[in-house]
Amino acid sequence: MPRIPKDFGPKHPQVVVLIGATGDLSRRKLLPGLFHLASAGFIPGCRIIGVSLDELDADGFRKLAHQALDQFATRNVKDGGWTEFADGLDYVPLKSGVPALKAAVTKAEKALGGSSRHIHYLSVPPNAALSAVRLLAEAELVERASIIMEKPFGTDLASAVSLNAKLHEVFAEDQIFRIDHFLGKEPAQNILAFRFANGLFEPIWNRNFIDHVQIDVPETLGLDRRAAYYEQIGAYRDMVVTHLFQILGFMAMEPPTALEPASISEEKNKVFRSMVPIDPRDVVRGQYAGYRDEDGVDPESDTETFIALKCAIDNWRWAGVPFFLRTGKKMADGQRIISIAFREPPKSMFPTGSGVGAQGPDHLTFDLADASKVSLSFYGKRPGPGMRLDKQSLQFAMHETGLLGEVLEAYERLILDAMRGDHTLFTTAEGIERLWQASERLLEAPPPVRLYAQGSWGPKSVHQLVAPHAWRLPFEREWRDPNRSGA
Ligand code: BG6
Repeated sequence: MPRIPKDFGPKHPQVVVLIGATGDLSRRKLLPGLFHLASAGFIPGCRIIGVSLDELDADGFRKLAHQALDQFATRNVKDGGWTEFADGLDYVPLKSGVPALKAAVTKAEKALGGSSRHIHYLSVPPNAALSAVRLLAEAELVERASIIMEKPFGTDLASAVSLNAKLHEVFAEDQIFRIDHFLGKEPAQNILAFRFANGLFEPIWNRNFIDHVQIDVPETLGLDRRAAYYEQIGAYRDMVVTHLFQILGFMAMEPPTALEPASISEEKNKVFRSMVPIDPRDVVRGQYAGYRDEDGVDPESDTETFIALKCAIDNWRWAGVPFFLRTGKKMADGQRIISIAFREPPKSMFPTGSGVGAQGPDHLTFDLADASKVSLSFYGKRPGPGMRLDKQSLQFAMHETGLLGEVLEAYERLILDAMRGDHTLFTTAEGIERLWQASERLLEAPPPVRLYAQGSWGPKSVHQLVAPHAWRLPFEREWRDPNRSGA
């Protein structure tokens, strides 16, 4: 159970309206996450009203939630916690319409004594988001409410602008929380701590010392049951415009004036404004062999399941430093890393054959997994006679701190922040529109998709994209096992 002080919880009791409550995301992440927040004492008395197309009653929803916890909760579901959580669950089938939703919310509010706030979580496909917003407006659930939206926030600049305009007809910008769960990952936030809480790294965080950066998120996962969504969206919209660019924003931004939403958004948005429009010639699109045979996929589909690109931030800090981004489905390994390659020394006194530079430049690598790791690799002397050099590394692993149990899973952290009204880790309409704008040339003239074998690292041309550098993954040396003792 977390030892985090409970004043990290919201000021007011919460009524959550979970639209899309029986869907995949809800069962995998949202219900287990809400359960953990409730049972850890962060959201006492929280009531959750599930809404979806499925014809269920409250008991049916409780059963579904219990099954979801059994299947997906990463922590033990204690009986005591469950009974209280289950008491707070209710359900309204969409077919019952506005009056039923309104009545369920009123009932929940009464149970909480009248001072509650609403949080509406839209866990619905992109084409259903606006009708969900209209439903909330008709049920008069806009006041004292916030809304959490799932990506994609549009599919290009025009659709993002139109979506934001329609949303703003109902909800004010400060009521809207556009969730990007990568920003809720503990290691993503640790980038901010690492950069801005230490005098050691920030002075070298620029073009004078950094040669290039890689943000690499290969996945072994396939489509799961998401063909209908994925076929329309593809890897660029699913992962790059959202998660990878947001991580890039944290990695590349200037020091914010305060750890506050407005300052952080402003600095991130400045990075996005300095981003050079993506040139389709700097992009490799791939599709895994066999994708077109998947259920729900067009046999002539042009959707990319893999994408790698080079992008540039044209400002004083980053001019001339390439950022290489890569992600894809059914690849050789599942990893989420940011790898920063430092410039090599201008001269070497070490003789040829000593091993200097032979294993690439010095790297600082962040592993963005929940149990995060950081590694700094450098050349050191191999023990013994003469001067042979080897790549060595300093590594930190969260496992070693004994605090792994305190990590809030990304969705938990972000739902809690939204309930507290804290926008720090959310994206803004302006930032998103700018990213679509920088993507326009690519979306208008995407390069052809190239096939890659399942279980590989993508199409061959991905190596030309980074040349003369090399992709950091697969690692030549594995992360050290944090549980290993001894030398
Ligand atoms: C989601 C994408 O947003 O992020 C998925 O839609 C992807 O396609 C997932 O698999 C990756 O998230 P995580 O947290 O598992 O790395």
